[in-house]
Amino acid sequence: MSNTVVYHQTNAAEDTHHEVSPTLLALFRSIASPGHYAIDVGCGQGRFTFEIAPKLAYTIGIDLDMEGIEAAQTLAQEKGIDTVSFFVADAEQVDYTEFITFETYDLVTAHLCLSKAIIGRAASALRPGGRFLFAALEAGQWGETGVQSSFAFSEEGLRKALASAGLRVEYLGVETEILEYETASSLESAWLNGVSPKWLNGSRRAGLAEHVKAGGNTLTVRSHLIGRAVKAAR
Ligand SMILES: C[S@@+](CC[C@H](N)C(=O)[O-])C[C@H]1O[C@@H](n2cnc3c(N)ncnc32)[C@H](O)[C@@H]1O
Repeated sequence: MSNTVVYHQTNAAEDTHHEVSPTLLALFRSIASPGHYAIDVGCGQGRFTFEIAPKLAYTIGIDLDMEGIEAAQTLAQEKGIDTVSFFVADAEQVDYTEFITFETYDLVTAHLCLSKAIIGRAASALRPGGRFLFAALEAGQWGETGVQSSFAFSEEGLRKALASAGLRVEYLGVETEILEYETASSLESAWLNGVSPKWLNGSRRAGLAEHVKAGGNTLTVRSHLIGRAVKAAR
């Protein structure tokens, strides 16, 4: 399934590319249970963790970035949520059950932090019938720059990685948002004249400059694979 939205840069109301996908939240709500235990990997400051935690028994958040984890801990206190704990950990290396006293999770989530190693760790930490819920960068994200993210998956590649970890796809869709400017020079003013976001590094910046030079006036600001998979029963 694929859903593409093209919107004009002046129509700010349509600019939803920074938000958590409503489809992903619906995939979560339809399986969430107050008795469930979850881990959110690559949680950053807990943006997705705080979306899911209120509907679950307990949620762990892990991230490599200590500042993100400290911010998430502070937010948990400010929000008065005591059913979450955050830890600094490498989601590609650590055994997820290290953070809990029980044996397996009901749910593993990965919001914009996905790799084959993470899929493998998630599959090992889930109980049979447990769910893996994710949003991953798709190969077309920032395609106009000519430089893919090293974390990006193709739909086929992701299906294969899930299947080889013993995870059966229940839903997989691509959500794309393309920002279209009036002219190439208005795209240039918006993205290349001034401070660039972190993802628009040297080679991507050069690639986008080439795109603009060739008259390009679009930028794929979001191309995400949204999905849910279930661990096969033994
Ligand atoms: C695009 S951010 C998403 C953060 C958060 N899930 C959200 O939606 O706001 C990716 C996050 O993955 C984290 N990350 C990348 N590789 C990681 C790894 N191997 N283990 C744990 N966290 C990782 C980064 O530190 C960053 O916080």
